[in-house]
Amino acid sequence: CGIVGYIGTNDTKEILLKGLEKLEYRGYDSAGIAVINENGVHVFKEKGRIADLRDIVDESVHAEVGIGHTRWATHGKPSKVNAHPHQSTSERFTLVHNGVIENYEQLKEAYLADVSFVSDTDTEVIVQLVEKFAAEEASVQEAFRKTLKLLEGSYALALLDSENADVIYVAKNKSPLLVGLGDTFNVVASDAMAMLQVTKQFLELMDQEMVIVTRNEVVISNLAGEVMERTPFTAELDASDIEKGTYQHYMLKEIEEQPLVIRKVIQQYQEENGQLVIDPSIVEALNEADRLYIVAAGTSYHAGLIGKQFIETMAKIPTEVHLASEFGYNMPLLSEKPLFIFISQSGETADSRAVLVQVKKLGYKALTLTNVPGSTLSREADYTLLLHAGPEIAVASTKAYTAQLAVLAILAEVTAKGRNVDAEIDIAHELAIVANAMEELCDGKDEFEQIARDYLTVSRNSFFIGRSLDYAVCLEAALKLKEISYIQAEGFAGGELKHGPIALIEDGTPVFALATQENVNLNLRGNVKEVAARGANTCIISMKGLEMNGDRFVLPEVHEILTPLISVLPMQYISYYAALHRGCDVDKPRNLAKSVTVE
Ligand code: G6P
Repeated sequence: CGIVGYIGTNDTKEILLKGLEKLEYRGYDSAGIAVINENGVHVFKEKGRIADLRDIVDESVHAEVGIGHTRWATHGKPSKVNAHPHQSTSERFTLVHNGVIENYEQLKEAYLADVSFVSDTDTEVIVQLVEKFAAEEASVQEAFRKTLKLLEGSYALALLDSENADVIYVAKNKSPLLVGLGDTFNVVASDAMAMLQVTKQFLELMDQEMVIVTRNEVVISNLAGEVMERTPFTAELDASDIEKGTYQHYMLKEIEEQPLVIRKVIQQYQEENGQLVIDPSIVEALNEADRLYIVAAGTSYHAGLIGKQFIETMAKIPTEVHLASEFGYNMPLLSEKPLFIFISQSGETADSRAVLVQVKKLGYKALTLTNVPGSTLSREADYTLLLHAGPEIAVASTKAYTAQLAVLAILAEVTAKGRNVDAEIDIAHELAIVANAMEELCDGKDEFEQIARDYLTVSRNSFFIGRSLDYAVCLEAALKLKEISYIQAEGFAGGELKHGPIALIEDGTPVFALATQENVNLNLRGNVKEVAARGANTCIISMKGLEMNGDRFVLPEVHEILTPLISVLPMQYISYYAALHRGCDVDKPRNLAKSVTVE
């Protein structure tokens, strides 16, 4: 979910709606705004997208203070009733919330037994507690603080009091939240992107802080009531980076930005003499470790699987890759000197953050690879490496994945040098070849549209097979296709098919096979024959030099270890076109959110 708030001298409706549109990547199953003026609080909420909310907002209401929310449902199904803002029984208080309150049932029982609740959300408990305590405490501020002290879990909150239209009460714990500064106004947002329309100056908030935001003042305090000083920072994003331009979808734009992103990554990590460099303290941390633990979710986890191979092959450090949601609750036996590497496009994924908090408590060091400077995972880790992919808006990750691979390759090579191991590859040079190959693939995208038509027009399911590095890419390819086209898609190691999944092959079942690795090329082709013999409609995508008769597409040649950076492109395009042909909402697939800020 994402939240926004504005208090100033302009009408707030459009500022809130525009802000929410920029936060839709965090969830988009329902949305709402509340504005406050001399006639009281006006709440507008709707199931669906921000566009649906826009349709029901009363244009004639003028207000200069307001809060807004876009939701990804956790407690309670997506509906108008469960949409935020939520109000207390008397409607004095109105609240938006991102996060999950773990003890809401207990709080309900202990303090609110006589209150009747309208929604199924944990959020309503917070606003009812504020109302209850406001009757008992000297000020709303105290009532709010008392409520915050009781909450267990994560929250970014913005609260309006209908009896005081000159303030927004704000608080944060674990969920991200920033306060933006203007001359005659101040704003609140889950992400700076939402408020770049009005300011670039932001204050970062820490966990368990609350803030009183008025038109010309921002006062941050901790839960003990002590005032905290904070220096603003300038968000370095350019508002035009987050526009779609002439593209029909963000996803297509982001796929086609990949050659530029790879060139940017090289440039960012290269010195004038052409040498790749990484902060020596990071290289030292890797060198000192006896084992690396990569922790991530979704596409970033898939990048981790390939990163492991880069690091083990080039730098020769044993590396494990774990799903954050599993690692947090089922920690493997750790080595003596572990180093943790978090990979996260957004830097906000709650599953990953939960692990980071745990390993920090254990006293271990952590490095975050993220696309978002200043994100939670970046701030809380000891070291950060940025992806430099530019804002990624489409829910299905594309350019962040290849940027992750590029940064991991650079990290592996520089670390190898640091420990006097011969990586046997010139990564800067090879990545430049990758960027050119990507460009060639983008220029030939019509072929991938045709493949999507030929293989995925009628099918309900599909398989992606590969061995070695290709297997990891197949997992990502299958995720991409299922996320946006809703075709059931599974990635398998080529050799595993015969141990079970082959039972699913029927006449016409699409099977995509990646063949970019020489040592397993023949084995993989054997696996393709096995499924073809059982009726599968096979589509082989191979690498130049390994191609054979009947291959549907041959990729331009790049260094063998870097093939995942280019073999994923046809897969991204095929998924995009399959979704497009099926009339799916490519950039905002159902039930998903780009950044999942709840565990
Ligand atoms: C969500 C997104 C995925 C993404 C995953 C991890 O589930 O829908 O596309 O890969 O989160 O996100 P992160 O920002 O940590 O890379």
